[in-house]
Amino acid sequence: MIERSPHCQATPSLPPQRADDALGRPGGDIRLLQVSAEIYPLLKTGGLADIAGALPAALATAGCDTRVLLPGLPAIRDGLRDAQAVGQFSLPWGEPVRVLRGKLPAVPGAAGSPVLAYLLDAPGLYDRPGNPYEDAQRRPYADNHRRFAALGWGAAHVARGLDPSWAPQLVHGHDWHAGLAAACLKFTAGPPVPVVFTVHNLAYQGIFSADVLGELGLPVSAFQIDGLEFHGQISFMKAGLFYASKITTVSPTYAREIQTPEQGFGLDGLLRSRRNDLSGILNAVDTTIWNPATDPLIARTYSVEQMTGKARCKAALQTEAGLQPHKDAPLFTVVSRLTEQKGLNLVLAGIDDLVQGGGQLLVLGSGDHALETAFGHAAQRHPGAVALRVGYDEAYAHRIFAGSDVTLVPSRFEPCGLTQLYGLLYGSLPLVRAVGGLADTVVDADLATLDDHTATGIVFASFSEADYRHAVRRALALYRQPRAWARVRQTGMQQNFSWAQAARHYRAVYAAALPDLSRIPT
Ligand code: ADP
Ligand code: GLC
Repeated sequence: MIERSPHCQATPSLPPQRADDALGRPGGDIRLLQVSAEIYPLLKTGGLADIAGALPAALATAGCDTRVLLPGLPAIRDGLRDAQAVGQFSLPWGEPVRVLRGKLPAVPGAAGSPVLAYLLDAPGLYDRPGNPYEDAQRRPYADNHRRFAALGWGAAHVARGLDPSWAPQLVHGHDWHAGLAAACLKFTAGPPVPVVFTVHNLAYQGIFSADVLGELGLPVSAFQIDGLEFHGQISFMKAGLFYASKITTVSPTYAREIQTPEQGFGLDGLLRSRRNDLSGILNAVDTTIWNPATDPLIARTYSVEQMTGKARCKAALQTEAGLQPHKDAPLFTVVSRLTEQKGLNLVLAGIDDLVQGGGQLLVLGSGDHALETAFGHAAQRHPGAVALRVGYDEAYAHRIFAGSDVTLVPSRFEPCGLTQLYGLLYGSLPLVRAVGGLADTVVDADLATLDDHTATGIVFASFSEADYRHAVRRALALYRQPRAWARVRQTGMQQNFSWAQAARHYRAVYAAALPDLSRIPT
């Protein structure tokens, strides 16, 4: 069965205002501004939004007074509540920006008060429907350098006191979209404000022609190897990596991988030179949203103690997806952006084996047309056993994790990955490649780990069809041993990916960044 649903969907709490510890040392409060292009529940194209949405509340419990800065994209602007103008500034090319302050909508079940957000109201830059980065033909917007330079300048203005009632001590930018913030702060007058920069995905770098340098409002001296120049072009990602005080990425293994030529996307040398400022902090899961015991979006709730609901979820999912209602057929699922990164050509290559082995496959994703078409053909070849829904559907993703037996994430590279974590917590065994955060979060079922009850999924090593297919065969074989399967599933569901630990790590990085204002040459 093949279905289509819309591409991108619009989908936490004001921490107590404890902004009076000017030192911001551990034990006191740190005022910080998170800067990201997307945020759950308002606008999401991938895991970045989940993390940006969860961090403010998590950091509040770690003693950080966190506000967020967001571009005025329609879904974000429409979702902001009680918005009021707090100031304005002009971009280097003369365009005015109003800065609004409002509240993010609370996620049902979340504790705490609403998170305060600053929004850049600049309709000329942001008032476009659909994907935040690309037009309807999936081409990056021609003015993306301006759209995201505005985010950097917005961060600098808020950090320099645009809102008379609150200013952060520190800025935390996410991915290339926020990469210019540290450069903007460095090249404007005022006391130094440290920036922590998090790499969610080094593959997307925000590279633009050197011709636009004059529009960015940065001095020509920034365009050099010790700056934002990258092979004769401008790299927003490199600006973030170079000018930030501290760099984090989203898993310990990815922090090591990006320092190698294989995974460094040309930035491994810079990352190696900054290794003392670089750390890997594993992403966590917001269990107010992702918890099968309380999830309002699934057919039946269930928990590790009471699993009957999961069978109901599986039956409901098979019906919804047009798969045969075989309760004993292992249901493999993919919830993913359809891109090269995710290794889905392996899934395509393994479909016939998977179906011959008695399995079913359901794919929810959108992106690459060739992948959409190829999965569509597979669904036609195997009616009732393979199903595809093209599109982006948050609620369906929940129903899939709840009904699924195996979550496939055979990525070429994976900075952290969240779907394998959702799979674990929903009792869907992750089948993953040992790379990035996948390697850090899934324990392969082998004789030893089955014996000592530490196994949580199936892990394969090399990015090859042969290794992937063997992993599928191992999953099918394990499924035929219900007691072993149940044991692995139970261990997976008991994993703790809560935010408390990650928030403590971020806080330690912030504390280390605050006194560190000397590294950047003037
Ligand atoms: P990435 O950020 O590289 O896309 P992650 O695994 O970190 O990968 O996060 C992906 C997030 O996006 C998860 O919350 C996943 O459920 C969600 N997601 C991906 N594709 C879809 C889709 N087609 N429909 C609904 N949710 C999706
Ligand atoms: C990126 C990565 C993904 C990670 C997510 C959130 O999109 O591709 O691996 O989980 O960011 O950090």
